[in-house]
Amino acid sequence: MIKLHKKEAESFTGDLLVYFIQETGKNAVSLPCKRGCGNLKQAWKSGDFTGKEGQTFLLYPGGSKKNKPAAGRVLAVGLGKTVADKNILRERLRLAAGTAVRQAGSLKVQSMMVVLPDMPDKAGLSDADVAECISEGLILGNYRFDKYKTDTGKTEEQKKDKDKDKAVNVERFVLQVGNLPPDAVKSGMIRGERAATATCLARDMANEPGNAWTPLKFAKFGQQVAKKHDLECKIMEKDEMEALGMGGILGVNQGSVEPPKLVILRYQGGGQKTAPTSNPTVMLVGKGLTFDSGGISLKPAQGMEDMKYDMCGGAAVICAMQAIAQECPKGINVVALIPSTENLPASNALKPGDVITHYGGKTSEIINTDAEGRLILADALAYGIETWKPDAVIDLATLTGAVIVGLGHHRTGLLSTDDALAEQLFVAGEHTGEPLWRLPLGPEYSKQIKSAVADIKNTGGKGAGTITAAAYLQEFVGDIPWAHLDIAGTAWNFTEKSYIPKGPSGIAVRTLLHFVRHWKGEKR
Ligand code: BES
Ligand code: MN
Ligand code: ZN
Repeated sequence: MIKLHKKEAESFTGDLLVYFIQETGKNAVSLPCKRGCGNLKQAWKSGDFTGKEGQTFLLYPGGSKKNKPAAGRVLAVGLGKTVADKNILRERLRLAAGTAVRQAGSLKVQSMMVVLPDMPDKAGLSDADVAECISEGLILGNYRFDKYKTDTGKTEEQKKDKDKDKAVNVERFVLQVGNLPPDAVKSGMIRGERAATATCLARDMANEPGNAWTPLKFAKFGQQVAKKHDLECKIMEKDEMEALGMGGILGVNQGSVEPPKLVILRYQGGGQKTAPTSNPTVMLVGKGLTFDSGGISLKPAQGMEDMKYDMCGGAAVICAMQAIAQECPKGINVVALIPSTENLPASNALKPGDVITHYGGKTSEIINTDAEGRLILADALAYGIETWKPDAVIDLATLTGAVIVGLGHHRTGLLSTDDALAEQLFVAGEHTGEPLWRLPLGPEYSKQIKSAVADIKNTGGKGAGTITAAAYLQEFVGDIPWAHLDIAGTAWNFTEKSYIPKGPSGIAVRTLLHFVRHWKGEKR
């Protein structure tokens, strides 16, 4: 939890006081600290600390009690020169906050105060935006997952040694409003904190190993989020999938002893004037593959452990729903579907050459059982669209290794049948520092997945793997504006940043939240 503080920063008695300082060249603005920061002033004058982006300067305030800040340490973090682009500045603020919290962690700081910078040129950002980005950076940068590290078998001395080296989490954050209006700061802080907390939750889910985070766990977690945040929740069980003919998810699940689950969450934004049911609806679908071995088309052993992350699309969708429920946007409905199963080889598993029938009747020839994501998504898309008749559909999945070949670990692949929807998602990605890049769709790609024995087949042969995977999903969305986000490159090993630790990034939670915040809800 972040707290607001309106009194002067020098009275903060915690472990660390942080100032963000812009690089202003010769016309140096006066440093924000009023008392006892002599060293910093010297460093500034001598050019040792210039406020360059990412630069830090740590000092231990000296002098008499009256003349120094009450905090044990002061850290200055450089923000770099002024920029013209809003989104670049947003990212700089997140990065600076991440840098501060990382330093704090290695110093074993428990409480830190951040003085909000009063920048003369904010590239058009509001004061609330500044507080939002800094709050995001603090919470995202403070993330750690060490649930499964125990001290078993360690001597007392070894335990102490370990504790000495171990960075710790900051427990208490305080934002000092500086010269900014407290109300704006507060609203920005709440937005940032909410988005970042939901993102950290998605990281937690992904970090759980496959034996702990099973489809059942997904279902229980969905119910828990729904109960806590007043969402509707339904778990569709295997027997209902059988009755409905969901041959995709059932086929992928065939070799697993864990039954599949389809987690369904619904948010209805009431508002005064509109009846919730007449609201425009956006549908979110996330791939919840809790472990992808490849099935009979088994993956190589090396790196297979990472396939516990194959549920990051589903995690992003559930966690975005939490943040949406907390924020209560009026006049729109959101329905979320997370098909969840493992993909394992067994004597009864799906085989290459098998033909399955998806929800709605389309048949598919299985060429490669490792192309399983599209099979479970296809059923969820077809069923969700028929049931809720949404006005826009977005699916998210760690779908193809090919997207890493094309875009590396820096941008999520975006494929869409609707330019306006694609543009809105692209903008949301730029805004949140989770950038996307659009790839094409088209009949020439759809042709690659035509089968000789069934309506379609589940791989498209050599070339354009990310696009042919999307073309498969396109078969199930009809003419509803639809966008697909291939997060295989960004859900983990995402571009290294101060506020993105190694491991799962929690990608797309903030993009989805931003999208929903701004979606006009164009009714079809
Ligand atoms: N979950 C994987 C995609 C993936 C690969 C995510 C690497 C992250 C890193 C997906 O189910 C898969 O195995 N896709 C295959 C498709 C192929 C068989 C057509 C792939 O990309 O190799
Ligand atoms: Mn696979
Ligand atoms: Zn997969």
